[in-house]
Amino acid sequence: MAEKKSWVLMVTAQTPTNIAVIKYWGKRDESLILPINDSISVTLDPSHLCTTTTVAVSPGFTHDRMWLNGKEISLSGGRYQNCLREIRSRASDVEDEKKGIKIAKKDWENLHLHIASYNNFPTAAGLASSAAGFACLVYSLAKLMNVKEDNSQLSAIARQGSGSACRSLYGGFVKWIMGKDDNGSDSIAVQLVDEKHWDELVILIAVVSSRQKETSSTSGMRETVETSPLVLHRAKEVVPKRVVEMEEAIKSRNFPAFARLTCSDSNQFHAVCLDTSPPIFYMNDTSHRQAIWIISCVEKWNRSEGTPQVAYTFDAGPNAVLIARNRKVAALLLQRLLFHFPPQSDADLNSYIVGDKSVLMDAG
Ligand code: DP6
Repeated sequence: MAEKKSWVLMVTAQTPTNIAVIKYWGKRDESLILPINDSISVTLDPSHLCTTTTVAVSPGFTHDRMWLNGKEISLSGGRYQNCLREIRSRASDVEDEKKGIKIAKKDWENLHLHIASYNNFPTAAGLASSAAGFACLVYSLAKLMNVKEDNSQLSAIARQGSGSACRSLYGGFVKWIMGKDDNGSDSIAVQLVDEKHWDELVILIAVVSSRQKETSSTSGMRETVETSPLVLHRAKEVVPKRVVEMEEAIKSRNFPAFARLTCSDSNQFHAVCLDTSPPIFYMNDTSHRQAIWIISCVEKWNRSEGTPQVAYTFDAGPNAVLIARNRKVAALLLQRLLFHFPPQSDADLNSYIVGDKSVLMDAG
């Protein structure tokens, strides 16, 4: 290792968030984060909803530290510790000739890290910030420590930070295979198709509220698994069939089938939340009013055209995600939303984010 205490080696990466079209809801193992069903998502364009993380290592650092959006946060939680441990155990030799830095594989155990992470969107408001966050953390650490594993193997580490994070290691449409092993080694994400495969789709997110949600996904799904009779039926009977149909719809760019499955799965996810005791509501008054309007508008629109034009999906937060079959439909949709739900000046209501699907990017 270089003798001087002054060197710092860093890597920056950018990772977009993803939106599930077949939802993950419920774990069979809480600490390894192993799900009760497969899920499928679409990764968004990094220019709108992404996390940028810089990871740095220096012999001058005395302990691991992390800042999220400029504020220091604790790394003592099991999820961070699991990711750091798993990545460190796979580190390799690193050499930066220009800076005269040489780090041997065994040195990584004793070197400390500083991590700075920024979200360009509201944290924990149901816009999958933890997905982008943990995917970016694992990806940037893997680059810094010269980890040789591929993105699927890295996804099994990101999964231990937040389940949905494993799907953000790829662009395009991604499937998280629930796996069978008790140790979680086969619970990984795989890319179904890349971002170019279905590039006429446009994703529009109506940000109804940027406030933090009241029930976190983690505690919400724990309560659902403990109390909802419907969730087992969903995981065992409904989702396995839906996943097969959804893969087929994505591969053949069959928008009517894609829209039907996406909307049904979102509705069943919220049904399972309502079937939880006590019931979980992820909508506030505004978003509920807007959601009802959006759902009935989309359903009417799809029926009047004779074939679906738009799909909707709502995650564990009040914001609506709409997927338009092409740019023309997206423009019409945005026009209707802006007319019925104009953006408010108090900044908390109704801003719209329009984006495509995307790739994982290295920022240096
Ligand atoms: C509704 O991945 O945030 O967005 O694994 O406990 O961190 P943890 O949960 P998280 O849950 C996401 C739930 C969801 C559906 C989905 O993204 O599949």
